[in-house]
Amino acid sequence: MSAELKSPQTPYEALGGHEALARIVDRFYDLMDSEERYAELRAMHAADLSPMRRSLAGWLSAWAGGPRDWFDENPGKCMMSAHRGLGVSAATADQWADAMARAIADHCPKDSVIGQAMAERLDMMARAMVTN
Ligand code: HEM
Repeated sequence: MSAELKSPQTPYEALGGHEALARIVDRFYDLMDSEERYAELRAMHAADLSPMRRSLAGWLSAWAGGPRDWFDENPGKCMMSAHRGLGVSAATADQWADAMARAIADHCPKDSVIGQAMAERLDMMARAMVTN
């Protein structure tokens, strides 16, 4: 098949697949777990972050156009609705978006268009989750 006829790459493929997304997620939760500036966000989460590491990596993979296992395992679950009852504030949404942007920047090449696009979209989602 000629290069022109190949299917376009999904964001999942461009980002490096599940392994790369899992590394971003691990960095994200390591930052949240270790830095004082994320303390309020950290306090909202359970003591054991391992289930969250698995879940967020799976969700991101499906969201970015990769394997849809997370959606199959969580039928009908909407990320926005799932966060509605959590009392996300502007400050904690900001902490989430900041830690995620740093984790992405640590794993994507400098000036990576796909990395920046991912950080921007997740930032918008986190801010749309603010309920108080
Ligand atoms: C784009 C933004 C976000 C995404 C994609 C996301 C993703 C997720 C995922 C996949 C889960 C696990 C759900 C499950 O397995 O059932 C989760 C849970 C959770 N999220 Fe988020 N989240 C986002 C933003 C936020 C923000 C802004 C906050 C707080 C300010 C937050 C706080 C939490 C908490 C407290 C839980 C439950 C954790 C626990 O049970 O320990 N999330 N999120």
